[in-house]
Amino acid sequence: MAEQILVTGGAGYIGSHVVVALHEAGYTPVIFDNFNNARRDVPVRLAQIMGTAPSVIEGDIRDSACLDQAFQEHEVGGVIHLAAHKAVGESVAKPLAYFDNNVGGFLNLLGAMERAGCKRLVFSSSATVYGEPDETPTPETAPRRAMNPYGRTKIICEEMLQDLCTADPEWAVGVLRYFNPAGAHGSALIGEDPADIPNNLMPYIAKVATGALAKISVFGNDYDTPDGTGVRDYIHVEDLAEGHVLSLAQLRQGNGHLVNLGTGRGYSVLEMIAAYQRATNRQLPYEIVARREGDVPIYCAKTEKARDLLGFEAKRGLDEMCASSWAWMQAQERGND
Ligand code: WQD
Repeated sequence: MAEQILVTGGAGYIGSHVVVALHEAGYTPVIFDNFNNARRDVPVRLAQIMGTAPSVIEGDIRDSACLDQAFQEHEVGGVIHLAAHKAVGESVAKPLAYFDNNVGGFLNLLGAMERAGCKRLVFSSSATVYGEPDETPTPETAPRRAMNPYGRTKIICEEMLQDLCTADPEWAVGVLRYFNPAGAHGSALIGEDPADIPNNLMPYIAKVATGALAKISVFGNDYDTPDGTGVRDYIHVEDLAEGHVLSLAQLRQGNGHLVNLGTGRGYSVLEMIAAYQRATNRQLPYEIVARREGDVPIYCAKTEKARDLLGFEAKRGLDEMCASSWAWMQAQERGND
């Protein structure tokens, strides 16, 4: 059997695309997910894409016994840790839930890995650790400045990993700071599927395009950006998933790293709306409203380190992100026939 990689959160938006990328790279992905933020039919859809059903362990990273059992049942060569809460606003309202899950759960996972002798980890971090960066595009050397509990959980986890690797050089760790994932798998069988009203821009626009939501609220147009609206570095979720495979390959050679995963190109909210209009050939209503608390004007990644250390470069552009998102939305409307 090909090397087994445990993917926590493997039934989620990023996780499901990582599972496909691992399979395509010759690994055997094992999904570990509590399905709190994932539809239960995702593994079935993954089987359609991959041609074989992935192993699935329904479990919570805060359950040590469940984690230990997963490592007893599977010869795990490495872990890709994606299971975390990730909504900034929610983290402000429920900080304890975020520290319990994102930090406590992670501590649990590291303990289970150590007990199993599995010391190869890819960790999903976030550009949110940069807070309001002094420079954009932002390099990995920029200071970490949490602006909210969610960002603080990511900084704490990164610092835990620094201390662990200092104490035990046997650990090989890849820290990947995501910018803004967007789009869906080319099969339109998996994609971003927020349970309720989306926090993030692309899935919100997508629901306006289907008519499920009435109009887009543009959170401020008085930022110091070309058209006054927020600029972000959107990266196709399939590019992002492929970055995880490249990270794992480096860890197999013992090369730990901390890199941004972005495109280096920023797009404003109005540019996103225009791109989605092109993809759907539909006029999408929007209204300029007040800024959202905690938003920063621009997030954009410096990408040279990921290129030099992982050989990673994003291949897919904004139009492909919008087209794949729209195909996914239409497939859902058709019931994914
Ligand atoms: C993008 C832009 C908004 C919604 C968040 C998390 C981050 C990461 C990615 C996990 C901003 C504007 C948005 C809307 C809008 N998640 N916007 N109307 O805030 O950059 O990052 O998701 O790692 O941690 O913070 O993404 O998609 O919410 O916002 O105008 O209805 O779109 O102001 O400029 P964000 P986003």
